[in-house]
Amino acid sequence: MKTIIEPFRIKSVEPIRMTTRKERKAVLKAAGWNLFKINAEDIIIDFLTDSGTGAMSSEQWAGIMRGDESYAGARSWHRFRERVEELTGFRHVIPTHQGRAAERILFSCLNLPGKIVVSNTHFDTTRANVQYLGGTAIDIPVPEARDPRSQLPFKGNIDLDRLREVLADNKLEVACVILTVTNNSGGGQPASMENIRSAAELCHEFGTPFYLDSCRFAENAFFIKKREEGFADRSVESIAREMFRLADGATFSAKKDGMANIGGFLAANDDNLARHEEELLILTEGFPTYGGLAGRDLEAIAIGLREVVEEDYLNYRIASTRYLGMGLLKAGIPIVEPPGGHAIYVDAGAFLPHVPPQQFPGHAVACAFFHEGGIRGCEIGSLMFDNQALLELYRMAIPRRMYTQSHIDYVVEVAQVVAKKKDRLKGFRVVEAPPQLRHFSARLEPL
Ligand code: F0G
Repeated sequence: MKTIIEPFRIKSVEPIRMTTRKERKAVLKAAGWNLFKINAEDIIIDFLTDSGTGAMSSEQWAGIMRGDESYAGARSWHRFRERVEELTGFRHVIPTHQGRAAERILFSCLNLPGKIVVSNTHFDTTRANVQYLGGTAIDIPVPEARDPRSQLPFKGNIDLDRLREVLADNKLEVACVILTVTNNSGGGQPASMENIRSAAELCHEFGTPFYLDSCRFAENAFFIKKREEGFADRSVESIAREMFRLADGATFSAKKDGMANIGGFLAANDDNLARHEEELLILTEGFPTYGGLAGRDLEAIAIGLREVVEEDYLNYRIASTRYLGMGLLKAGIPIVEPPGGHAIYVDAGAFLPHVPPQQFPGHAVACAFFHEGGIRGCEIGSLMFDNQALLELYRMAIPRRMYTQSHIDYVVEVAQVVAKKKDRLKGFRVVEAPPQLRHFSARLEPL
């Protein structure tokens, strides 16, 4: 059959409140044209993020009831640790309340002042944590990653020639290399096993720790199975295990491929480093057998980490993201190609050539999708990064197991309306904004 159906039935539903175009215009105005300030109640389809927003399974909800809330050594902790150890093979597993807590603890222990951290592309919180702790974050994706139209199967790869240069440069001290899989800021693109292995070997040649930012490890492993020679007959579980075993440690946000609403972990093989990390964990997150999470959260993550490698699920997941991407392309809206794992990124700079970067084309697209159809996504461009933005993008991130094909069909229909009106879409100006992370709270005004 060529129709890929959602591999689940719906047991519990959350109503969506339908709104009119007129209402949405009023909502936009009242929110200062900032989608972060709109109440979820006023959104029809929420593509703001795939982080912590997905639907849990009946097994996970059953696990929530089984959650053991003992302060130390809870049964839920053991189930969590056993699953993470089985999947990743790391000697030390440290639970954290989400991904950025793992990042902060890791980078606090690597003594960053004067050192650099190298990545294919740092996610914003990863970069912010490196910089806050006195380090410098450097991104070296393969050159094609910067071209939205290039069609590489593994556009999330790190540039190995540049990596060797950086590692071999005596003037630079590299604290660690952290490969983001899939590469979120680079369009949700995967890294190949060959690239992960070569990067790990290079790091080991120079004695530099090699880490994975493994938020979307299962989607990355699925792309390896589908696109890399020699992996077609392997299970996603075994591919994921191999990926993790090439690294010295990992950070993880369970809000993505943990299929949970909150949680994460930091993992490492180095005994001394892990001891130091646990000390810091106790200071701000909690005792090492819960790390800021409730027992029920640990339980939901342990189960989610099994469900996420199921191939029926991943087949549907990657196909539905692709389906949205193809729908937008057909509507005449350029996107970062090929479609990634968790999100579609509209190339707003190319779509609205009459809106210069200083007038935030990605934000103009974001407001148009909300106005026309109640769809919320997020600008990733000059509003978010000021003059550091590489591209002017609008991201539609798809929550896991939440929306069906007819929801996506609706989004594509809205996209067709937006495409028809594109010449009339106007840029924006910032009326009021804080000096940092302005996209979260700025008030804007259409020009
Ligand atoms: N690394 C990557 C690649 C991420 O995408 C995120 C979060 C984090 C780390 C931080 O994890 O949110 O649990 O603290 N990404 C979300 C997003 C917020 O919308 O892309 P966290």
